[in-house]
Amino acid sequence: MKPSHLHSSILPLLFFLTLAHGLSPKCNTPDKGSTLQVLHVFSPCSPFRPPTPLSWEESVLQMQSDDKTRLLYLSTLVAGKSVVPIASGRQIIQSPTYIVRATVGTPPQTMLMAVDTSNDAAWVPCTGCVGCSSAVFNPAKSTSFKSLGCQDAQCKQVTDIVYCPHILNLPHTVIAASCIFQVQNPTCGTTCSFNMTYGSSTIAASLAQDTLKLATDPVPSYTFGCVQKTTGNSMPPQGLLGLGRGPLSLLSQTQSLYQSTFSYCLPSFKSLNFSGSLKLGTKGQPLRIKYTPLLKNPRRSSLYYVNLLAIKVGRRIVNIPASAFAFNPATGAGTIIDSGTVFTRLVQPAYIVVRDEFRRRMGRAMVSSLGGFDTCYTVPVTIPTITFMFAGMNVTLPQDNFLIHSTAGSTTCLAMAAAPDNVNSGLNVIANLQQQNHRVLFDVPNSRLGVARELCT
Ligand SMILES: *[C@@H]1O[C@H](CO)[C@@H](O)[C@H](O)[C@H]1NC(C)=O
Ligand SMILES: *[C@@H]1O[C@H](CO)[C@@H](O)[C@H](O)[C@H]1NC(C)=O
Ligand SMILES: *[C@@H]1O[C@H](CO)[C@@H](O)[C@H](O)[C@H]1NC(C)=O
Repeated sequence: MKPSHLHSSILPLLFFLTLAHGLSPKCNTPDKGSTLQVLHVFSPCSPFRPPTPLSWEESVLQMQSDDKTRLLYLSTLVAGKSVVPIASGRQIIQSPTYIVRATVGTPPQTMLMAVDTSNDAAWVPCTGCVGCSSAVFNPAKSTSFKSLGCQDAQCKQVTDIVYCPHILNLPHTVIAASCIFQVQNPTCGTTCSFNMTYGSSTIAASLAQDTLKLATDPVPSYTFGCVQKTTGNSMPPQGLLGLGRGPLSLLSQTQSLYQSTFSYCLPSFKSLNFSGSLKLGTKGQPLRIKYTPLLKNPRRSSLYYVNLLAIKVGRRIVNIPASAFAFNPATGAGTIIDSGTVFTRLVQPAYIVVRDEFRRRMGRAMVSSLGGFDTCYTVPVTIPTITFMFAGMNVTLPQDNFLIHSTAGSTTCLAMAAAPDNVNSGLNVIANLQQQNHRVLFDVPNSRLGVARELCT
């Protein structure tokens, strides 16, 4: 069965079953102020959880395989390579891990949109979408909907962003190298339409405007892509809310409302009935928080780069070659913080040193592997701490942020891995498992990233 078929057949059924069983009343708590509930995609409040719960091993392997696709995708953003990975195995849904509830249109239509810090775009599946698998937005039922044409400035903005004159001579299938949305050949017809890739999906959409409501904040005339067709299984079923900082991003479009500032607390996938939060704007952000500068890469404006300097295992700063973490705007190498990847990936020379020190601290305990994790133990072990040392900020991770334990408690793995061999981008990704139960503050005007521990309830 092709993934798209899997999607279209299972997800509506899933949605139906979830509704039929009744979501817990907690799931319908209205969002207040400028704060949105953030749900894990496997949360009981999510209509996108697998129909039969996966076993622990299955879910780990599932997340690892999703991560592989995501890393390939991030590396295409970084390196400007055209890679559309082929999905394989049992893949129910393969999109960013966290969703928020937003409404689009007048009267409002609710969409559970995925949040993705490494993307600028906002798009929602629209009525008639071919290959979409869940609830769609119906523009005909919204009095505030407006389809944008080529004459509109926003279309020009998209085409300015995505239309890369220097690659015009390349074949149609080549994805524009420095294009933020990775849109292929936007056509100028009556509507402003474009094609783009997202993970292993291709998406055809047209540019539109409508009121987007986030918690209690209406954002009138919000520009987004109305998805008409998709293939592959990376497209988030009810749309995407990109939290990148490039042109036409949420941050750019809500500049006066939120001043390019937001924070989130991502709930652990273990405590599935917890929900975290996404706080938009400067109000209510933590004051006591440690900061590291955000690095700007003009060529990859949607990615949040930070300066990771070193890693400490226990008390020892392990000996990682400086080149492993070096920021290079030209090649895209460096370290990003990403909400959509689950397990942190370090470039090979860095990972091996961290892992070896970790293993050394374990003494003679027998090492086993699980899927892509090569440092697992089936005996009780004393775990050293792990500290990420960023410029100006050390973050010592609680064990739950770098270990995963099997439900039966018999296996414990170091939940990090080397960047896959086929992704040669020099990119280190601080992933969401490492961020869970922390408040992560993106303060773009001051070009800094804040991190503080917080229980995401
Ligand atoms: C998008 O791709 C489809 C083929 O899948 C093609 O027919 C269409 O013209 C493309 N649209 C644009 C705007 O490039
Ligand atoms: C779910 O929530 C309840 C109360 O809200 C709490 O007592 C329980 O521990 C939670 N379960 C998990 C698995 O987090
Ligand atoms: C981080 O830890 C290192 C080594 O323990 C220390 O030298 C450095 O001052 C710390 N940095 C900050 C910003 O606290």
